[in-house]
Parts: sequence; C-alpha cells; structure tokens
Amino acid sequence: MSSIPFDRIAHRYEETRGGLERGRQIAKALGMFLDPGSRVLEICVGTGAVAKPLSDDGHTVTGIDLSRPMLNLADNRLPGVLVEGDASKLPVAADSHDAVLAVWAVHVVGDQQALYDEVVRVLKPGGLFFVVASTPRVDSNDVADIAFRMRPALGRGWDRSNILAGRIAGHGLVFLTEVEASKHLFSETPSDRAAAIERRDWSSLWELDDAEWADKIQPIVDDLRALPNQNRKRKQVHRHDVSVYRNSR
Ligand SMILES: C[S@@+](CC[C@H](N)C(=O)[O-])C[C@H]1O[C@@H](n2cnc3c(N)ncnc32)[C@H](O)[C@@H]1O
Repeated sequence: MSSIPFDRIAHRYEETRGGLERGRQIAKALGMFLDPGSRVLEICVGTGAVAKPLSDDGHTVTGIDLSRPMLNLADNRLPGVLVEGDASKLPVAADSHDAVLAVWAVHVVGDQQALYDEVVRVLKPGGLFFVVASTPRVDSNDVADIAFRMRPALGRGWDRSNILAGRIAGHGLVFLTEVEASKHLFSETPSDRAAAIERRDWSSLWELDDAEWADKIQPIVDDLRALPNQNRKRKQVHRHDVSVYRNSR
C-alpha cells in the first residue's frame, strides 16, 4: 500500500476540515496527559493546526509530513520545526520524545506496521502515543445515514479507533484510555454533501477507480440528490476521540 500525500487538497484543506479552532480543542484534550514542556513529535502534521496550539501551550513540537504544499502552510505557523519525511521511516533519534501524536494520520501511511515500530523506537520508555482516528462519531439524520453507506467503499479511510487498536496491539504499545478530543457542529444540505463527495474532498475517495465509483459511490450521490428539501440545512455534530497508548518499554 502507498502513502497518500495531500498536495492536491492543500489549498482547500482547512476549509474542508477545520483549522486552528479544531487544533486548540485537540491540544486541550492532550494537555490532560502531557507534562509541562513535553517533547512532542507530530507525524503527518499537515498544516500545523494541532501542532501550533501545542507549541503555544509550551510543548516543544516537531512535525513531519510527506507533502511540501501542506508543510509550506504549516511553516507559516511554526517556522523551523517541520521536516519533510515519511512517518514510517522517521528521521528522528531513538528514545527522543515524550509523546508522538497522529491526528487523522495512520490511515494515510502506506506501511502502518513500520509506522508503529518507528513510534516505539522514537518514544522514550513510558512515552505516550496519541491517535485521533479520522472517522468521526456522527448523529443520525437523512444525509448522514445515506453517506454512511459509503463505509464499505472507503477501505483504509474507515479507521475507527477499535479497528486501529487491533493493529497497534503487538507493537509494545499498551492502550490506556480514550477521551473526546474535538466536537465540530455544522449544518449541511443534501446537495452540499453530494457536491463534496463529487469533488472527492476526502482522501479515501482519491483511490477509487471509475468502476468502483460507478458501483459504490454514484448511487449514494444520486440518493442524496433525490432527498426532499434539498436546500434545507441539517444540523450535524462530528466528534473525534483520542486514544492514548503507553510505550511499555
Ligand atoms: C488528513 S491529513 C492530517 C493532517 C493533520 N494531522 C491534521 O490533523 O490536520 C494527513 C496528512 O498526512 C500526510 N501523510 C501521508 N502519508 C504520510 C507519510 N507516510 N508520512 C508523513 N506524512 C504523511 C499527508 O500529506 C497529510 O498532510
């Protein structure tokens, strides 16, 4: 499996996924677990939306990402602490960090087993690994219920924490707890959601070929466009949890 760099969506990334406000919520949740002045490595740091508030809170943050266009945006927030590199081959010394952070990240890394081995290598003994899965908990409504049918087509993009837990186990990382990290309230119409799917806003849609699209995704778009009250906004809440693991070395 290959990694998925985010070059193609960098210019619309925060418009489609939230920016510093989301990052501040996540940084606040992580703050419950971090000692003051912790040394934190954020893999797949993206635009630095989480790294910046963590740094503002007094932690020493290093960020790594495969995508130069994403890192250019992050550089404006956190100059001098970002590295272009692969999370499954970290250019970082062993036993060097108090915590490693992966927000909406592990599903886009090609070699996930190598990633977890690297996390254990660079963490200090007893250090913490934070994982925020990209798939949110959502409230039920007509739009969300139809969109939920994309699940079988999303492959690795469907990365709820219970699925990740099975993969992380066995790498010397012991599950400690899971708490809510961010809550995003918004509203959308059926046509908003259909258009976002058609634009392939999410990376899990980038890998589908035309036949898979016609078979699995187009019927969902069609059903969204057939809903009544196309221009009535539906309220929605997306909640993301952070799972906390301890390096057992
Ligand atoms: C969904 S974004 C998450 C960005 C950030 N963590 C956030 O919460 O906004 C995933 C990021 O992972 C990066 N990425 C993908 N594969 C990677 C790899 N193997 N190593 C490092 N970064 C990678 C992408 O370029 C993208 O910036």
